Amino acid sequence: MKYSKIFIPTVKEAPKDATIQSHILMIRSGMIKKLSSGIYSFLPLGYRVLKKIEGIVREEMDRIGCNEFFLPVLIPADLWKTSTRWFSMGNELFRLKDRSVQDFVLAPTHEEAFTYILKDHIKSYRDLPLSVYHIGYKFRDEMRPRFGVMRGKTFIMKDAYSFHAASDEESLDKTYNEMAGAYRIIFQRCGLQTIPVSADSGTMGGSLSEEFMVPSRVGEEVIVQCTRCGYVANLEKAESRLEHVEYESAGTLEMVHTPGTKTIEAVAEFLHVSPQKIIKSLVFKLPDDRYAIALIRGDLDVNETKLKNHLGITELTPASESEAMEKLGVPLGFTGPIGIDSTPVVADHSIQNIRGGVAGANKHDYHYMHVDAGRDFTPDDYIDIRLVKENDLCPRCGGEMKMFRGIELGHIFKLGDKYTKAFSVNYLDENGNTRTPIMGCYGIGIERTMAAVIEQNHDENGIIWPMSIAPFDVLILPVKYEAEVKEIAESLMNTLESLGMEVLLDDRDERAGVKFNDADLIGVPYRVTIGERGLRNNTVELHDRRSGQNELVPRDRIVEILKEKISAAKSTKNRS
Ligand SMILES: Nc1ncnc2c1ncn2[C@@H]1O[C@H](COP(=O)(O)OP(=O)(O)OP(=O)(O)O)[C@@H](O)[C@H]1O
Ligand SMILES: [Mg+2]
Ligand SMILES: [Zn+2]
Repeated sequence: MKYSKIFIPTVKEAPKDATIQSHILMIRSGMIKKLSSGIYSFLPLGYRVLKKIEGIVREEMDRIGCNEFFLPVLIPADLWKTSTRWFSMGNELFRLKDRSVQDFVLAPTHEEAFTYILKDHIKSYRDLPLSVYHIGYKFRDEMRPRFGVMRGKTFIMKDAYSFHAASDEESLDKTYNEMAGAYRIIFQRCGLQTIPVSADSGTMGGSLSEEFMVPSRVGEEVIVQCTRCGYVANLEKAESRLEHVEYESAGTLEMVHTPGTKTIEAVAEFLHVSPQKIIKSLVFKLPDDRYAIALIRGDLDVNETKLKNHLGITELTPASESEAMEKLGVPLGFTGPIGIDSTPVVADHSIQNIRGGVAGANKHDYHYMHVDAGRDFTPDDYIDIRLVKENDLCPRCGGEMKMFRGIELGHIFKLGDKYTKAFSVNYLDENGNTRTPIMGCYGIGIERTMAAVIEQNHDENGIIWPMSIAPFDVLILPVKYEAEVKEIAESLMNTLESLGMEVLLDDRDERAGVKFNDADLIGVPYRVTIGERGLRNNTVELHDRRSGQNELVPRDRIVEILKEKISAAKSTKNRS
């Protein structure tokens, strides 16, 4: 293909809102163009890469026997009301009406649609298991769309769903593991090393889930990993071993005047106690104007995701000063568990054995001393709501844990019967009993994968595509597109194309410097430079974008050499 025929609007400067390399380079190389915040169009060069990633995903899904569908994005809201997500999903869900004022959603994911479609076809145990997928647009009104296509309001996802006989965990496990295996191969074929991380299953309503992360400085996820054993988890879910603290009861409860001590540090200093003796009590506002109090040891912090999951809610915010005043009649900093009856109190395990502790007295400027958990108050539950921090000890082996950032590219869940039950999907088992199937769901962000590849494969001059998803295999760069150089360049393009290679010939009437810069920017793996001087010695120059190496190659050997290099690169990226 000739450069003059393909639309590649490269630019020198990326706009200011592009702050990470993948976003900057995708814009600069003319692969994507912004329509508005979180909404991007793919231009021809970017679309070529996108289609290759989709192709790899498709091959690996087909290989494990998953059936490809193609579903609409406009979904009647009734389906979302049936699953109840119309009510629980909040502002991330795009909602709209048609001319007859019926509600619709722009699907952020397709559990409802697939379950609805398959309901009529899962009638017997013989219809199970069944795995389905599609690759298509999703819509989510993200709070903070950013980083280009990494977090868009609309993005392409491969989402797959599997259906299994009720209580056939073995069958679900098998598909779940096949998916996990396929994901590993997909990302590896795209040139990425991913880490499967045990994750929070959020509003999906499932029990078990795993995220596929690539470590990256610009990642939005925080991952906790044990330096000794294999334990690795998303911060939202991560647990740690609680170090043991000795406490001693100090007698009966005593209310003391602690003027202006609104923070743990201030209380600790004023009363000369260690923060480990202080019961931190945090007030959270829940949906429908409800509140909850969370208790945790003074030196620790609350993991809001764990708290949300325990309370079975999707949104929660720390109460403001005025909300605390209104609800509990006491300013923040002086709230505590003693004498609270109308508000649920959830306590972390860390305070269960506190004796002789300190807690807010629910009275402005007062705290209690000599507080014994269990004697002076009894929370509704003792659970793990602790936020893990750097150097905490591994819950499995006690080793030290480290934290790093990552980008989530894929997510696999076991869903149980949440959707099949809501949609009354029923089949007859071997004994003629009516049963409800269980499900799994499996997503990959296609554009986010592309951006992650660029994050891991670039230099100061541009992108360095892995061969498997490069927009072209070879770029032919004639120093001056005229006379013999032109003739040879064109004939090389034709020969390589006839051998099945994807070739871009830079036939533009531009200075060589401009062509070299664009070549580096768009990152085609091999570049063949053809110049008058080289031709005098019957040579062309072969440049490897990744290693940066140049070699002079006899003109009559270039086809053979490229064939070898490219088939080798493609086969190592391909699973055997
Ligand atoms: N706003 C988005 N823009 C681009 N890709 C996305 C976006 N949201 C999710 N994805 C991709 O879709 C995949 C599956 O979606 P899933 O619902 O599991 O994501 P999520 O848990 O909401 O992700 P995140 O925590 O990043 O919001 C993700 O792993 C990611 O690759
Ligand atoms: Mg999300
Ligand atoms: Zn460990």
